[in-house]
Amino acid sequence: MLAAWVAVDGPEVLGHVVLARPGEALASVVGLPARRLVSVARLFVSAAARRRGTAAKLLERAVDEAAAHGLRPVLEVEAGATAAIKLYERAGWRCIGTSAADWTAADGRIAQVRSYVGPS
Ligand SMILES: CC(C)(COP(=O)(O)OP(=O)(O)OC[C@H]1O[C@@H](n2cnc3c(N)ncnc32)[C@H](O)[C@@H]1OP(=O)(O)O)[C@@H](O)C(=O)NCCC(=O)NCCS
Repeated sequence: MLAAWVAVDGPEVLGHVVLARPGEALASVVGLPARRLVSVARLFVSAAARRRGTAAKLLERAVDEAAAHGLRPVLEVEAGATAAIKLYERAGWRCIGTSAADWTAADGRIAQVRSYVGPS
């Protein structure tokens, strides 16, 4: 982990996001050296706080931090995570490929993950 933020409303934690070093597999899909990338990960907003723009703000903060360090933000998202996919695509992220993950989804099948590059 390189950086992390939480969104709060008074004493209540609404959500969080981290920036982390990307793995070589994601860097290879993107086609850039891992040292020029940073991975947006662990984006989560509590169920009671959703659809209020919290994730969009957390994502924007992470993307701004990446830009401040001259790094291109990237991420992976499970192909069934439709809310997250809508969020990323609305924020200008571009899907660059889909691949099989090395973990299983809740239904027991090998998860498919979509790889995204953030806005430059
Ligand atoms: C995905 C997630 C982080 C979105 O958090 P959020 O705070 O509700 O999102 P926002 O309110 O900032 O939504 C911004 C935009 O994303 C899209 N979006 C968000 N949730 C959506 C949903 N359930 N269905 C469709 N679009 C959605 C919409 O375009 C939305 O804008 P709008 O509300 O003006 O239409 C949240 O649903 C979550 O924590 N899900 C479980 C964890 C997860 O999937 N994390 C991503 C892992 S890669």
